[in-house]
Amino acid sequence: MKIQSIALKVLILLGSAITTSGAVAQISSSIRFDAQTKIFRIDAAGITYAFGVNAQNQLQSIYWGPQIGRDDLLRGPAANAGVAAFDPSFTTTPLEYAGWGAGLFVEPALKISFPDGNRDLVLQYASHSIEGNKLTVTLRDTSRDLFVDVHYHVDEATGIIARSSSVINRTHEPLVIEQIAAASWNLSPGTDYFLRYLTGRWAGEDTLQHQKILPGETILESRRGSTGHQNNPWFAIERGEQTDEDFGEVWFGALAWSGSWRITVEQDQVRNIRINGGFNPFDFAYSLKPGEKLESPVFYGGYSKDGIGGASRLLHHFELSRVLPQAPNPRPRPVIYNSWEATKFAVNETGQEALAEKAARIGVERFVMDDGWFGQRKDDHAGLGDWYVNPQKFPNGFKPMIDKVHSLGMDFGLWVEPEMVNPDSDLYRKHPDWVLNFPGRARSESRNQLVLNLARRDVRDYVYKFLDQLLSENDIAFLKWDYNRNWSEPGWPAVGASSDEQKKVYVAYIENLYGILGELRAKHPRVEIESCSGGGGRVDLGILTLTDEVWPSDNTDPFDRLRIQDGFTYAYTPGVMVAWVTDSPNWVNNRTTSLNYRFLSSMQGSLGVGANLDTWGPADFETAKTLIAAYKQIRETVQHGSLYRLISPQGGSEYSATESVSIDKQQAVLFAFLHSSQMGYPFPQIRLRGLNPTTQYRVTPISGALAKETPAIASGSYWMRHGLEVNLKGDMQASAFKFEDNSAVHSSN
Ligand code: GLA
Repeated sequence: MKIQSIALKVLILLGSAITTSGAVAQISSSIRFDAQTKIFRIDAAGITYAFGVNAQNQLQSIYWGPQIGRDDLLRGPAANAGVAAFDPSFTTTPLEYAGWGAGLFVEPALKISFPDGNRDLVLQYASHSIEGNKLTVTLRDTSRDLFVDVHYHVDEATGIIARSSSVINRTHEPLVIEQIAAASWNLSPGTDYFLRYLTGRWAGEDTLQHQKILPGETILESRRGSTGHQNNPWFAIERGEQTDEDFGEVWFGALAWSGSWRITVEQDQVRNIRINGGFNPFDFAYSLKPGEKLESPVFYGGYSKDGIGGASRLLHHFELSRVLPQAPNPRPRPVIYNSWEATKFAVNETGQEALAEKAARIGVERFVMDDGWFGQRKDDHAGLGDWYVNPQKFPNGFKPMIDKVHSLGMDFGLWVEPEMVNPDSDLYRKHPDWVLNFPGRARSESRNQLVLNLARRDVRDYVYKFLDQLLSENDIAFLKWDYNRNWSEPGWPAVGASSDEQKKVYVAYIENLYGILGELRAKHPRVEIESCSGGGGRVDLGILTLTDEVWPSDNTDPFDRLRIQDGFTYAYTPGVMVAWVTDSPNWVNNRTTSLNYRFLSSMQGSLGVGANLDTWGPADFETAKTLIAAYKQIRETVQHGSLYRLISPQGGSEYSATESVSIDKQQAVLFAFLHSSQMGYPFPQIRLRGLNPTTQYRVTPISGALAKETPAIASGSYWMRHGLEVNLKGDMQASAFKFEDNSAVHSSN
């Protein structure tokens, strides 16, 4: 059949485009609409995503997976037959974006109440537009001028599609949106799907869950006003029991929203697999006046045939090349020092300068002063909101200290927690109405603080102004932006008694947060920002469009960190994963580990040091100096390369190992960790992945030793097929090795 394509075909050549196999490929993407079959198809990076307009004028999902032949879709979609009287066609047909109406019993994408009491919404195809690698399909309700733009933006290098929706009220009356998804993703019916997702809590983030998808719905969500530690807005679905790190089909998605969110994964009554994600409908309402529009966040979705490892590598490359503020070429993360665990709130000029001197000696590039420097901040009971430099602690202001840090060859970073206020602060005494609250009700404190209502214009202006001033008056290269509690009593009394108006806080707050970050970045383009929320409570692809790195957990126990870091990498690149070396025994589990072990654990991500350097001896400084120097040789590979999780630390594993391979495959880095030897068994033979089979790689230890018979130089295929044996025995042992293209090593000598 001749495809009558009226779409635009884009061919984009990217010299260094990345595939999961690391190949440099000529990349093309296309979005086409076939007017005869009414099928849209998006092809990119070996993936096809197809949907069409069926006889009922609904937008029906057709296919998502490996690329299919150009002429393979011969017929337009036919709505599923219903099942008896109880499951009509509307509810059994997989729709791209379903309104709640006409007997829909599965999760709707959109649910609306009109002022006349009508709550029926049936969306039909109205028009579409294609512009390069972007497609917008406009849907309209069958009888009312309620329009939805369903957006698709495909990334030609990874095939990841950014989906979102906007609802436009073109009726003459206001209406209330009660539920709105960014996107619905549908997978073909089956009972052999498995779901992975991340759960956690403070100091215990990113635990990987893996379970069969059974009939019913699994809800991943935050009702907390922010992303939260409890679930992370990411999912992956594999088909079949045989899938693993490297093999099998995986569909994955990540929601770019830092407020209350929800992702549902549903196996419906006819075994369709449906995934919906967007604002959390719990306690949600958004009123739209005539002419107004609400835009959802972006929900990214991708597909890999190379197992969960392939899926995360795609996502990592996508984040680095498309999502991060410095994409497509983010600067490598500097080695930082952070004062928090060393000094807690007791920061002052002499103490910080003394730490800075020591940090510089070991090769730190950025010195970050944490909490305690502002207002009347002696502990966590007071000061938040009063962002002036504490004159007792810094009688000369910041200048001498920052100058000193610069003279030591480092840049300077500062901790802030802009969205919070302690009741014991000048700000709260002056503006008690600035916090989230329900009048006449208690204001529940957490960590002795309340949440400022950033949705308010005056609060937004205050926060922007003090941050802009701080950055304008001081030579600050970096902000650690913290957020140390979740919402309670989320009222916004200033907008009146209507709860529908007040509930806009869930959207308006986050929009203002993003607005402030965006404006600050535009005005201070060299300033980098870290997202922290009591550790990993605000890690998502929304905040990561505006921040350069995240703090994954307050848990700095280097053994616990292996599991947290492993979980983190399913969704996020190690290029944004900050990891500090802190003191031993660690406060979390009272566990004692060597400095070497702590360094190697932190070197899996963006290395930092948070130990109290005032207590270190000469040998500690020597170890730190050597390992920081070694890290600088491998950080490009660790932060921007392809990550292979060789042995997972999940589920209490005795061993773990990761490997990172640089994009040009000239360097690879292996980290291996042993919890405790048992029964004298050796560490399992490790087989590397992702190397160039014919390249000769020379191995050099960063720390630790290989079995005696290991060759110094061997081909990529030797390291990948025969593998190697690391010499690890004992308790809490770690080693790391660098593999380098031997010809490159020679030519650079
Ligand atoms: C949070 C952060 C910590 C530290 C403290 C300071 O808990 O996650 O790293 O900055 O706040 O109060």
